[in-house]
Amino acid sequence: MNRDLPAHIAIIMDGNGRWAAERNLPRIAGHSAGVSAVRKVVEECARLKIPHLTLFAFSTENWNRPQEEVGGLMVLLDQYLKKELNTLMKNKVRLTTIGHLEDLPDNVQHTLRDVVKRSAGNEGLTLTLALSYSGRDDILKAVRGAARAVMRGDLSPDDIGPETFSSFLYTRGIPDPDLLIRTSGEQRISNFLLWQVAYTEFWVTDKLWPDFSSEDLHEAIETFRSRERRFGMTSEQVKGGKT
Ligand code: FPP
Repeated sequence: MNRDLPAHIAIIMDGNGRWAAERNLPRIAGHSAGVSAVRKVVEECARLKIPHLTLFAFSTENWNRPQEEVGGLMVLLDQYLKKELNTLMKNKVRLTTIGHLEDLPDNVQHTLRDVVKRSAGNEGLTLTLALSYSGRDDILKAVRGAARAVMRGDLSPDDIGPETFSSFLYTRGIPDPDLLIRTSGEQRISNFLLWQVAYTEFWVTDKLWPDFSSEDLHEAIETFRSRERRFGMTSEQVKGGKT
């Protein structure tokens, strides 16, 4: 059994729209309730001393949603960052982002850069927001980065192993997720961290994201801790500590 706490939890926060529909509310009300769930989970991960939390806040595909919803999400993100800055600093949370930051409205980019800069020295939880993120784009970006390094003569194609390749991804410096949580019962990866989840443990709950609580987070972590991670080896090898 793996008793360690996950060093990196990644979350696909799904079901905000359904949460709102169940209450005859506009979709943005679901996202607003989703922000409260984000706040709780960030604080709990900081309290548990989890080193990394990555949240899938906005995918490249989400740009295709109605303009009103996209605009509302950008406002919520900006408000969250401004309102939470003090709490993030108090809890020693360091903010980082992955994805096409340049696609976001200028004011949101500005707020993000400001919080990233101010929190850069914090040594507690690293909170990574995936914004305008696509797992396939991340891999393509890494391929282009490695190809450029080869063309410059800085890298030999034979030296491109998993570690070198990872250093060209948006997530460079961040360990691969140990645990991936998805809410709302959907069992798919939706173009999230495709390369990075090679050996990640998945945990899915039927709860919609705005209803996700600290207790659900604890349940996910306890389930993770009860699983045996074999990384392609046999159970006997893992138990014997053989690598
Ligand atoms: C998925 O629910 C959720 C999103 C596309 C956005 C997630 C954003 C937040 C929780 C708020 C902003 C984030 C931060 C970090 C402050 P859905 O709309 O796809 O739900 P549905 O499948 O029920 O329609």
